[in-house]
Amino acid sequence: MLSDKVLDNLPHEIRRRLEPYVEAVQLMTQTSNAKVLRSMAPSGVRGLILQRGKQGVPTTMPSHHRVYFDWTYPNDQPEMRELYTRAKEQQWNGDDLPWDIDVDPENPEKPIIPRQFMDFEALRTRGIRLTDLEERRLNASVASWMLSQFLHGEQGALFAAAQVTEAVQFFDGKLYGATQVVDEGRHVEVFHRYLDSKMNKLYQINDNLFVIIDALIQDSRWDVKFLGMQIMVEGLALGAFGTLYQMTKEPMLKQLLKMVIQDEARHVHYGVLALRDHFRDELSSGEQREREDWAFEVALLMRNRFLSFEVYEEWFEHKLTRKEWARFVTDSPGFAIFRQVMFKRLVPNLREIGLLSDRIKPHYDRAGLMQYFDGESATQLSGDKLIADLDAA
Ligand SMILES: [Fe+2]
Ligand SMILES: [Fe+2]
Repeated sequence: MLSDKVLDNLPHEIRRRLEPYVEAVQLMTQTSNAKVLRSMAPSGVRGLILQRGKQGVPTTMPSHHRVYFDWTYPNDQPEMRELYTRAKEQQWNGDDLPWDIDVDPENPEKPIIPRQFMDFEALRTRGIRLTDLEERRLNASVASWMLSQFLHGEQGALFAAAQVTEAVQFFDGKLYGATQVVDEGRHVEVFHRYLDSKMNKLYQINDNLFVIIDALIQDSRWDVKFLGMQIMVEGLALGAFGTLYQMTKEPMLKQLLKMVIQDEARHVHYGVLALRDHFRDELSSGEQREREDWAFEVALLMRNRFLSFEVYEEWFEHKLTRKEWARFVTDSPGFAIFRQVMFKRLVPNLREIGLLSDRIKPHYDRAGLMQYFDGESATQLSGDKLIADLDAA
């Protein structure tokens, strides 16, 4: 395999073309659990090498899961029934958001993300000098990129919610799941409408996000779909929505995020409820280990690789290497806060469903993620409490 050193000595143009492939191979060979590698590798090839998410529409994926019927309609999960009731009461209409607010993504008075989100000084030390307007435009691009990934994640959540509604064995979970399908449909609606009518820009799906969605939509095991969508993607999204909610000075987006966050808090809560008992009672220790390793791989994928390469390709492809861009983004103050809050939300949920055993803890520790171990899990946090905490911070 090509080492970073060999890569560094290649002419810029060749290196630019090779780097994504080398990253893909590095990513897929770092997994130590053979079963995780087998289940993730095909998605890795489709997402990172073939870039299926960027090859035009439609992207089709086969799905093979067992649909679970129950003709006795039991009230089998009181906590899920309670979430179902709350979800019905808290439905809202995306049309009622304040769409008449005029949004200018480059307006320095009401920035979507703060000016200091990116470290422009670090760019200057690499010889890239942006004008004041270019800096505001770059920030607007990064904001559009993030919102576009939220939107693509919501499309994944819509279909995953539909799949798990079919597949779970809890009847109260199925009724609850029906409300989540509606919620996710509404999230697709409002994020798309915001991007289309306010930002005027939609980025393609990030390859790493595609890998995760592809892997969980095609996996036949309902609990892996659940783990991927309800815990990993939704858990991280909840942290990301919360961070943007706190940061943004754009009032329309703030209101939109406030409504979405309250829905997402229920979704992650449901994920924890459904998986906690299942992992503890139904899985062999080998199956549990595989879930643990799978979750850790996805966590790394999200932490290390969610680096807005699509913005890089648009702005800096001929000025920086991908590695330089990755370092720049990783070190930027805004993304650092995002990472911190995302994992603060995720790690306690992994603990709650039993996927942070003593065996895997050292891995999280090495990745700097154990500091979040003692935080509140989704079962301890309602949407209202989440918003109140965000407003108080
Ligand atoms: Fe959602
Ligand atoms: Fe959700």
